[in-house]
Amino acid sequence: MSSSQNIYLEKTPNQPKHIGIIMDGNGRWAKLRGKRRIFGHEAGVLKARELVETAVRIELEALTLYAFSSENWSRPKKEISGLMSLFEKTIEKYTSLLIDNNVRFKTAGDPSMLPKILKRKLEQMESITSENTGLKLTLAIAYGGQQDIINGIKCLIDDHENQVIDINTMTVESFEEYLSFKDLPKLDLIIRTSGETRLSNFMLWQSAYSEIHFTETLWPNFEEQEFLEILQSYSQSERRFGNIDEDIELKEA
Ligand code: FPP
Repeated sequence: MSSSQNIYLEKTPNQPKHIGIIMDGNGRWAKLRGKRRIFGHEAGVLKARELVETAVRIELEALTLYAFSSENWSRPKKEISGLMSLFEKTIEKYTSLLIDNNVRFKTAGDPSMLPKILKRKLEQMESITSENTGLKLTLAIAYGGQQDIINGIKCLIDDHENQVIDINTMTVESFEEYLSFKDLPKLDLIIRTSGETRLSNFMLWQSAYSEIHFTETLWPNFEEQEFLEILQSYSQSERRFGNIDEDIELKEA
């Protein structure tokens, strides 16, 4: 699609309900500018803010941002502490933005290794925004899809042993009750920036039927226009699917 094509910022009929974003490329973006990696992460936060505002304007139902994976704990200590204090500042800075925009904020992941102060701020943000009825924003932090499934299985076994449920009657839908994101619409679309073409442990269970869009753009360079183009292409591909069905019906008639 030509980048000069004007895309209106409005809700479209086939708009995805739930989008997950793997925000990748902050480090390379900073390196290209001869700066430290944290500079790229700071630019990444500004981009995430822009995207949340866009999501609110197009009335997206749910947005999940992958901010820190279980595997990211193996990064250099200095980068981890820089990221943790950036997350803390971000929560503080954007609380009123989320409140003003009626955003309901939640986290997914294992908070046990997060700094106590960050953990507390995340909990406060969840609590303050819990009654909001607009965009459901989830920050996947210290999150891993495999770990989430294992955790779900452990809770399931507990419930089975306590006779809360009967494991033999388990279905896909009833197992989802043991996983993160259980109260969100199905994950329709995943976007990963920076040219890497893998899921990196992001929403493994929930991505079973998701469309996946990979873009070469580094996260801090990801513009609203590109996001809207991806949404437009998503809704067109949904419509094409309908047309193919009609064609097949005509041929078979
Ligand atoms: C990937 O870049 C990004 C991360 C590890 C997570 C940090 C993300 C942000 C700071 C953006 C948004 C944050 C919030 C709180 C909404 P990378 O370091 O893997 O980049 P590289 O692959 O180029 O090295």
